[in-house]
Amino acid sequence: MSRTRTQVGIVGAGPAGLTLAHLLQLEGIETYILEDRSREYVEARIRAGVIEQAIVDLLVEAGAGARLQHEGLVHHGIELQFAGERHRIPLSDLAGGRAIVIYGQTELVKDLIRLRLESGLPLHFEVSGVSVHELETERPLIRYRHEGRDEELECDVIAGCDGFHGICRPSIPAGVLSEFSRGYPFGWLGILAEVAPSNDELVYAHHERGFALSSLRSPELSRLYIQCRPDEDLAEWPDDRIWVELQTRLGLEGRTLAEGPILEKGVTGMRSYVCEPMRYGRLFLAGDAAHIVPPTGAKGLNLALHDVRVLADALATWHRSEDASGLDAYSDTCMRRVWRAEHFSWWMTQMLHRPEDGDPFDLKLQLSQLRYVTTSRAAATSLAENYVGLDMV
Ligand code: FAD
Ligand code: PHB
Repeated sequence: MSRTRTQVGIVGAGPAGLTLAHLLQLEGIETYILEDRSREYVEARIRAGVIEQAIVDLLVEAGAGARLQHEGLVHHGIELQFAGERHRIPLSDLAGGRAIVIYGQTELVKDLIRLRLESGLPLHFEVSGVSVHELETERPLIRYRHEGRDEELECDVIAGCDGFHGICRPSIPAGVLSEFSRGYPFGWLGILAEVAPSNDELVYAHHERGFALSSLRSPELSRLYIQCRPDEDLAEWPDDRIWVELQTRLGLEGRTLAEGPILEKGVTGMRSYVCEPMRYGRLFLAGDAAHIVPPTGAKGLNLALHDVRVLADALATWHRSEDASGLDAYSDTCMRRVWRAEHFSWWMTQMLHRPEDGDPFDLKLQLSQLRYVTTSRAAATSLAENYVGLDMV
């Protein structure tokens, strides 16, 4: 077994791991990134599309936002559709001028991987058998297998950026973490279609047949979602059926959705989950490894990048002056934003999705809430400032 040393060993080359490595590189801190999937797989995984202004600013300032700035689509509002009508929430007017940017997570990941590979710093794909050890000591270890060899990486700190199904969180001994979660009896069937988006802004639609969302990736690519069962069988959803359902839920009198070839489809379950604290000894969790939200609030990717910004700052201070106060406060600092996003995502989810049993009382409450957020400036402002991202840290 060969042994290598680094300062920060990063497990996972998703948005959290790649951004953390980039921010630490700017601080002169050595990192090693280990990813168990292939580069092609990681770059093709279609997920988030909405980036908060503060995260765009972070990426641009860090020199990782050139293409994002050029190709990202700036949106100043979203629409809520219910009872056969659309209502615009003017995000920027209500939230101090802030906007959101539509840019696929796939594109962001490609940009970050390219930067990393150009820097020549270590990023290993297709590693296997990753495990973390000696977390309570000053020399935590990562063991893994790469290109047929067993490797050991000795670190000052390990960053667990390996997503919800990763190995870092489960490596923390039982009893250390407090876990909080909420399941939902539905999922999203998402498609990517080769057709110009029918709407200028995102449309979140409440419909008696279930929620639907019209989003986009570019002026030529639409991204659309429909509420389904969490275990929905894609085989039961030929393209025709998907379009009929989208037309029903998103269409309005006199307006139909433009249809085009479906390039990709998939079903995602929905869950809210938080573990506290986001640290055990010298292991720090960030992003989906520590918390997930249902996608209705478009917060997951943003939260992951807020975490790594806090972690990178704390590590830089510690590295410069041995001051560990930022690292000690890491979990509490992140938790304030995490719980705000958990609440917002849960609230958006329960306002917009058809309850499992279609309880008429719930339906009336949803419609009342939707009317309130689309007619009261105070209620709309609350939605807007959460959606574009609150100042918290
Ligand atoms: P991940 O992206 O999960 O990355 C973790 C990485 O670790 C992966 O590359 C994985 O392969 C790797 N890994 C796992 N286990 C190991 C191991 N043992 N060893 C090495 N590597 C490992 N968020 C938003 O903000 N806005 C949105 O609009 C939005 N829409 C979404 C839509 C959908 C359909 C879905 C599914 C999610 C959406 N999200 C959205 C959430 C967002 O995609 C995630 O929150 C984000 O990917 C989290 O990034 P991460 O780096 O923490 O985790
Ligand atoms: C997306 O474009 O993938 C998207 C947009 C808004 C959401 C979730 C996903 O709330």
